[in-house]
Amino acid sequence: MSKLLQVRGLGKSFGGVKAVDGIDFTLAKGELLALIGPNGAGKSTTFNMVNGQLPADRGSILLEGQELIDRKPRAIWRMGVGRTFQIAETFASLTVVENVQMALLSHDGRLFSMWRRAADHKRGEALALLEQVGMKSQAERPCSVLAYGDVKRVELAIAMANSPKLLLMDEPTAGMAPQERNSLMALTKQLVVDRGMAVLFTEHSMDVVFAYADRMIVLARGRLIAEGRPLEIRDHPKVQEVYFGSGRTFEKKEKAVSA
Ligand SMILES: Nc1ncnc2c1ncn2[C@@H]1O[C@H](COP(=O)(O)OP(=O)(O)OP(=O)(O)O)[C@@H](O)[C@H]1O
Ligand SMILES: [Mg+2]
Repeated sequence: MSKLLQVRGLGKSFGGVKAVDGIDFTLAKGELLALIGPNGAGKSTTFNMVNGQLPADRGSILLEGQELIDRKPRAIWRMGVGRTFQIAETFASLTVVENVQMALLSHDGRLFSMWRRAADHKRGEALALLEQVGMKSQAERPCSVLAYGDVKRVELAIAMANSPKLLLMDEPTAGMAPQERNSLMALTKQLVVDRGMAVLFTEHSMDVVFAYADRMIVLARGRLIAEGRPLEIRDHPKVQEVYFGSGRTFEKKEKAVSA
């Protein structure tokens, strides 16, 4: 299978802390890859190097064979690496469809100041994106009045405005109720299938990861300790050890959390 993303020997230290310590992984088109690991494992640092927000100390990140290291975040975004952003407070007063229109205009490189003159611009395209995330019927409502799970759907539509080849989602379901989590991840999976997009996501709920990831990679203290399909990872002794110490399993932890 041809690889969309190829990461080799990627490393980043903060002072004496090796946040990411020489990791290798690949991601194929149409794949939903979960990056998991305990707190401080280096997940967000990895994300921020891929999207260009954080300069890597060493290694290589190839997107369709093109090196991303040393490129600016905006350039990487233009090459097709998207990420979900929280809708900023200033945009919460805009309607759902206006928020997506803004994102589409930004993708075209139009100036923010042109927005008001181009009020109807991209409306059809924005509504089509909202339809894909199940939010078309709420298009004219201000984002500020939406339920939390619906805001997350709009954020996903905004990320889609750039037609990303690779979408990065750092803890997309944080703060959501279990049912909303499942619904957002099911939607993400649908977008991966429909658009042939790839998604790299982090997630602390193992139920969500095991239900939706095609493949998983596991970081601990900046090192990649395991890689495989969810069932392989679930039973991986090294993974169980870093998460729970010896003798405990994911199932026990999930029960403890929901109790
Ligand atoms: N800007 C920074 N300055 C100094 N140290 C940092 C910085 N960012 C991350 N670190 C350190 O690097 C390590 C990895 O952090 P990172 O945020 O990547 O972990 P994470 O896996 O995303 O954790 P979490 O699950 O809590 O989000 C941690 O030890 C953290 O304290
Ligand atoms: Mg993090």
